[in-house]
Order: sequence, then structure tokens, then C-alpha cells
Amino acid sequence: MSERLEDIAAAMVADGKGILAADESSGTIKKRFDAINVESTADSRRDYRELLFRSTEAMKKHISGVILYDETIRQKAADGTPLVDLIKGAGSIPGIKVDAGAKPLAGFPGDTITEGLDGLRERLAEYYELGARFAKWRAVIDIDTAKGVPSATSIGSNTHALARYAALCQEAGIVPIVEPEVLMDGAHDIDTCYDVTKATLTKLYLELFAMKVKLEGTILKPNMVIAGKKSGKKNSPEEVAEKTIRLFRETVPAAVPGIAFLSGGQSDEEATANLNAINAIGPHPWKLTFSYGRALQAAPQKAWSGKAENVPAAQAAFAHRARMNGLAALGQWQQSLENA
Ligand code: 13P
Repeated sequence: MSERLEDIAAAMVADGKGILAADESSGTIKKRFDAINVESTADSRRDYRELLFRSTEAMKKHISGVILYDETIRQKAADGTPLVDLIKGAGSIPGIKVDAGAKPLAGFPGDTITEGLDGLRERLAEYYELGARFAKWRAVIDIDTAKGVPSATSIGSNTHALARYAALCQEAGIVPIVEPEVLMDGAHDIDTCYDVTKATLTKLYLELFAMKVKLEGTILKPNMVIAGKKSGKKNSPEEVAEKTIRLFRETVPAAVPGIAFLSGGQSDEEATANLNAINAIGPHPWKLTFSYGRALQAAPQKAWSGKAENVPAAQAAFAHRARMNGLAALGQWQQSLENA
């Protein structure tokens, strides 16, 4: 495989393919395992992720890359094969989450700042040796307008950190996934999401420009423009698609090769239907695909429930979601395929 940043980025958003976000921190994967009554140990986490990476058909056809957590990039399958080799063997690219999580932003109650820049150059060099060719850094922007959240300071400092991270990645030969997640947890309407995401993306591209980041070697991982969960409103896929694309045309340069959405708490099928609607109104200047965590994994986790005998059912559930999202990335998904 070519090692040019723009070639890696292009491969990450190849037609009909998207990214599997399997980079849950130890705390987050414990929450997911609690929900299916599975104890979270190094071995159970390994067994679970191994079954995903061994879903060879789905991986080959629909998963361009996998975002790993620090523990996973160093782990071996039960038979001793490094998990990274399983991913590469399926023609997919290993990636790594490198941020150290969102912490309260001093002086700005309700806002967070993502940490992890100190020592990042050295960590990236090690991850490159371990096989990572792309990385992820997630900034978290909550919305609580009554409390003045997010502040301009939060948007400014988070996008500045994203740009510093992105520059270090490119220096190391690693494609940065730039993820400024505007959360859908709040009670806000879709237009408020539009405004906050617009302010965030506008600032983000100014910061990336100032930091001399080569946009052709980046992937944007944004939220869709969508109402907050606590608003009690459900937007149609057509409305989500129209507003999301309108926003991107205003803020995301055409030099960016691809946009890979997070699912952010949308249900499996909602995330698929929305991605499909977005691609159905193309053509667009960038590829638009998925980088889903929950929307790809909720079904296989439930099917698996920690039991070895359920591995084939879990792999089938994962393959189904991967295929549905692969079709949505082409604008070719239909509701009727969900039960086929
Ligand atoms: P979700 O799709 O579950 O939001 O996770 C994607 C991700 O990687 C968030 O950083």
C-alpha cells in the first residue's frame, strides 16, 4: 500500500466502505459490556474485538479502517496472531485513538477540553511502528444554550488542539481523523445544532490552515446536523441530510477528501438512513461515509453476550450493519433491505 497521506486518506473513504470505531476506552467498553452482562477483562475485550476483525467478508468489503485503543493495538488474538495483522489481512487499515479524553475546561463550567498533546510526537512514532496509519482525536462540544455552553473559548481551544494534533500526525506519516463532536445529548433543536456546528467547523478550518495541515491528508469526523435527544424531536432523514450538506458546503473545503460521520447516539437504522439520505442528494465534493462505534456494534454486542457459541451470530449481525452502512455510503440503502 502507498504511504502517501493523501492515498491513505483516499483508501479510508473508498466507495462503499467506512470506518469501524472500536476504540472505546476501558471505561466506555466496560459500560457497553455491563449492558450485556459481560465482565470487562483484557481477555473478554480481546475476544470481542477479535470476532469483529475476523468477520472477514464484512471487513474486506465494507470496512476501510479500524480505530483501535492503546490496549488493542498491542493485543494478540487467542491463537497468537497480532490483532493488527488480522485487520491488515482483511485489507483494512489499522488506526489509533491518541487523545487522552475530555476534561473540564477551567473557568468554563459545562465546557470540556480534550487533553493529550504532551508527548504526542513520541507516541505517534511508536504507533506508526505498531502499524497505525491513521489516528483519531475527539473534541467534545456540548450544547446548553441557557448556560452559555459552548463558550467561544471552548470552541477556540478545542479546535486549536485538534490542529496541533493533526500537524503532529502528518509529520509522523499518519492521517489525522479530525473529530469535533457537537453532542446530540442536549435539549436543543436542529437549527441550534446547525449554528454550533457551523461555528465549530469554521474555526476548525482556520486553525488547520494556521497550523499548515495539508487538508488532502485529513479526514473530518463530524456529527450530523440533528436535534438534541432531550428535545423530544425526531428529524426526518431528508431534513438531516439537507441541513448537514448545506452546512458542509459553507464550511468544509473541497480539498478534504472525506467526511466520516460518528453515530453519536443515533439508533443503528437511524444512522444508516441519515447517511443514505445525505448521499442520495449528491454529488458532493467530498466522500461521505461512516465512522460508527455504537451504530455498528450495538447489534453484534447484543448477539454475542460474551458466549463463544454466539460468535457466528454476532459476526452475522456485524456483517449486516457493515453492509447496510456500505450501501448508505453510496446512497443505495433501502429500508426493505434491513429485514432481507
Ligand atoms: P459513535 O459512533 O458511537 O458516536 O462513536 C464514534 C466515535 O468514534 C466517537 O469518537
